[in-house]
Amino acid sequence: MCGIVGFSGKIEAAPILLEGLSKLEYRGYDSAGVAVACDGLINTVKTAGRLKVLSDKIEGGAAIKGKTGIGHTRWATHGVPNDVNSHPHTSEGSRVAVVHNGIIENYMKIKEFLQSKGCNFKSDTDTEVVAYLIDYLYKGNPLDTVIKAISYLEGSFALGILFADNPDEIYAVRKDSPLIIGLSDSGNFIASDIPAILKYTRKTYLLDEKEIAKISADKVELFDMDKKPIEKEVYIVEWDETSAEKDGYEHFMAKEIMEQPEALRKTVSPRIKDGNISLDDFKLTPEEFKEIDRIYILACGSAYHVGMVAKYIIEKKVRVPVEVDLASEFRYRKPIVTNKTLAIIISQSGETIDTLFALREAKKLGARTLSIVNVVGSSIARESDDVIYTWAGPEIAVATTKAYSTQLGVMYLLAEYMRQLKGLPPTEDTFAEELLALPQKIQKILDNKSVIQYLASKFFNAKDVFFIGRGVDYAIALEGSLKLKEISYIHSEAYAAGELKHGTISLIEDGTLVVAIATQDELFDKIMSNIREVKARGAVVIAIIPEDKKEAEKFADYCIYIPRTLPTLMPSLTVIPLQVFGYYIAVARGCDVDKPRNLAKSVTVE
Ligand code: BG6
Repeated sequence: MCGIVGFSGKIEAAPILLEGLSKLEYRGYDSAGVAVACDGLINTVKTAGRLKVLSDKIEGGAAIKGKTGIGHTRWATHGVPNDVNSHPHTSEGSRVAVVHNGIIENYMKIKEFLQSKGCNFKSDTDTEVVAYLIDYLYKGNPLDTVIKAISYLEGSFALGILFADNPDEIYAVRKDSPLIIGLSDSGNFIASDIPAILKYTRKTYLLDEKEIAKISADKVELFDMDKKPIEKEVYIVEWDETSAEKDGYEHFMAKEIMEQPEALRKTVSPRIKDGNISLDDFKLTPEEFKEIDRIYILACGSAYHVGMVAKYIIEKKVRVPVEVDLASEFRYRKPIVTNKTLAIIISQSGETIDTLFALREAKKLGARTLSIVNVVGSSIARESDDVIYTWAGPEIAVATTKAYSTQLGVMYLLAEYMRQLKGLPPTEDTFAEELLALPQKIQKILDNKSVIQYLASKFFNAKDVFFIGRGVDYAIALEGSLKLKEISYIHSEAYAAGELKHGTISLIEDGTLVVAIATQDELFDKIMSNIREVKARGAVVIAIIPEDKKEAEKFADYCIYIPRTLPTLMPSLTVIPLQVFGYYIAVARGCDVDKPRNLAKSVTVE
């Protein structure tokens, strides 16, 4: 779960590699390196630590000459983050250099074979084995060698490869890990993700599984595993360069929180016509949908939490049983799936490997697959029967906010659309209208975030924080708790409020902070009594409630008011103060909000 970039062009490569890596640091940031070919030699510089350490070492790129090179920013899987284990890895005499994103699962076997052939390895990584394997197989034809080498590799990989005796070319190939090709007049690129090349081009090729690219300054050739040339359509990226910049905010997360009204508007309003939902991307006919007797939602992290909210809404509107599964669990638990099963896959990046494998498993078992994805052309999008894109734009901060909100938006649209497909009566008359009004209500919360900021400044030293809710508020409490944990490192848990008294309430003591979410009128009194329960044990309670529920002030110590909307849609409003609370607490604790320790934006290793 790293970021790789490569450039072959008419201008010096190193500064461009550093620029690209700076846009990929959200994928991993414990070490970085570049390798640039020049005059038949490959010059490799790599360092542990943030990209800045490398950039200072090579004077922003000026210290390394050459117009063709590869670069890498790392999130360690095999071998601790240090200079030796950082990428690029080279073979004996630097004849071959490799950058890699993914995991070679059979690397030890290959390593032992190569050691028996006299190869001496310097690092503990799986990637170094690839460099030596390619060098071992090399007989002067790079393309043949790459094809041969990957036939030995098991696992996931996106590889950028340099051959010293072919200094003007980069070879690239992918399997299960993301890799795109960028095309521009000043040169051509490989990259793990779009932000790395946006400064130079929006013209791309989306590389498919086991397709090999040969990149040089003025052309890109694509081949399949039989060396047959492949023609591909150029895909123009809609995002512009600034969308991957901070726009004056201190953190990407702050910018992305503030972008939520616009992101939700862009994602939802084009799909509502005259009060009806139209989801052309979901191609099941009413007849086919009526056959569906079970829905699975498969995802990881915050995307899984979107699924938890969606379960309540889909079951209420569509009356089909919904199971929400952690993707990493689904794959191995022999789920009951038939050709009457719809599997909905949610992923911001579209590359999270647990989710990708869960998608493949559901497909293999006969399910119809629909994915909700933010990155166009990503693996999950391309491997699903149908895909509905969230139009949140690039999300750089590791902790998701705007992508989460647009995923929620799509799940509302989908639930209502499936109700329409089944011809069931509406559960709320003003659903479409209220959905269109959500962005403005979110804006209202953001315009009044000073209360939340004040509470964050009051509680940023909390040791343990509990989030409680009932019904759909419990599903939102899960996301609130994760947001706080992810970026502030405060221990926190979310609980169905009614479950507290069956055990966890033993953890509540004087001063324990409890955030109680109470947006569902039919459950309001119940949650107020849960607030009384924890208060009786000394807890300090912050309640998040609709603006017309002032009576909560009798029970909670602090109240955060949010605008009123339909009960079904309240999660989209409730999540905003939870994100803002987590953000300001993390800032107050001096945490690296955009790149929290031990995390990464898209986990492409199992
Ligand atoms: C984690 C991210 O790595 O993966 C989370 O830090 C995210 O923010 C989770 O929710 C799932 O990622 P994706 O891209 O599949 O939605």
